[in-house]
Amino acid sequence: MGRQLSLHIMRYNPDTPEIKPFLQTFRLEEDERMTLFVALNKIREEQDPSLQFDFVCRAAICGSCGMLINGKPTLACKTLTKELPADITLMPLPVFKMLGDLSVDTGTWFREMNLKTEAWINTEKQFDPKAREERMTNDQALKIYEADRCIECGCCIGGCATANIRPDFLGAAGLNRVARFMVDPRDERTDQDYFEIVGNDEGVFGCVGLMACDDNCPMDIPLQEQLAYVRRKMAVAGFRR
Ligand code: SF4
Ligand code: SF4
Ligand code: FES
Repeated sequence: MGRQLSLHIMRYNPDTPEIKPFLQTFRLEEDERMTLFVALNKIREEQDPSLQFDFVCRAAICGSCGMLINGKPTLACKTLTKELPADITLMPLPVFKMLGDLSVDTGTWFREMNLKTEAWINTEKQFDPKAREERMTNDQALKIYEADRCIECGCCIGGCATANIRPDFLGAAGLNRVARFMVDPRDERTDQDYFEIVGNDEGVFGCVGLMACDDNCPMDIPLQEQLAYVRRKMAVAGFRR
């Protein structure tokens, strides 16, 4: 027989603000290899069909199941209950718009971040379908690939001190996105152009550098290195102004 788990889950529906957020406890028996995805679905199927949470891929790919698990922002589908104590507290990720219970709207935040950082190749070149493929070095390709592994889960944002007090802060996800285009040889933006976007307190100078983002990224993206890279470049660009 497995352990008896107690899941204390934050309940809140923004459509009924008169009911303040509260923790509701659900009990269930743990199965071998049970993930929080399985546990939450079991609760919804067997105990409370109104429980709201997000999952799509169940395989740490889509980024939709980020939540605070015993205070740590991480992916619920990747978390085995046996890695946790029998008492588990689940809260929605802060910073993002609350949709209900454990469900938050990360999509709008990431869309705005992508627009603000112009997260596409900025070039004056006209598209020529007959042109030969442009080459880049393996090193450049690997650096781009590393940054592109971000699944936009929001864990680095939810656990970030600055993002929690400054709504416009781009956070580690945004600065990682900028680093991705800085190393891309096809993007013609200069460091001065990037300075306009991230050379301020909403960008790299708002970061207090305690590296919670690096600890919390479920994809193990080296955010510490990415932030240091952007900070170095922007410090030089700022000095040259
Ligand atoms: S190091 Fe910077 S971006 Fe990362 S969590 Fe801290 S303040 Fe946020
Ligand atoms: S950088 Fe990591 S923690 Fe942040 S959104 Fe991307 S995958 Fe999630
Ligand atoms: S459900 Fe897709 S990352 Fe967890």
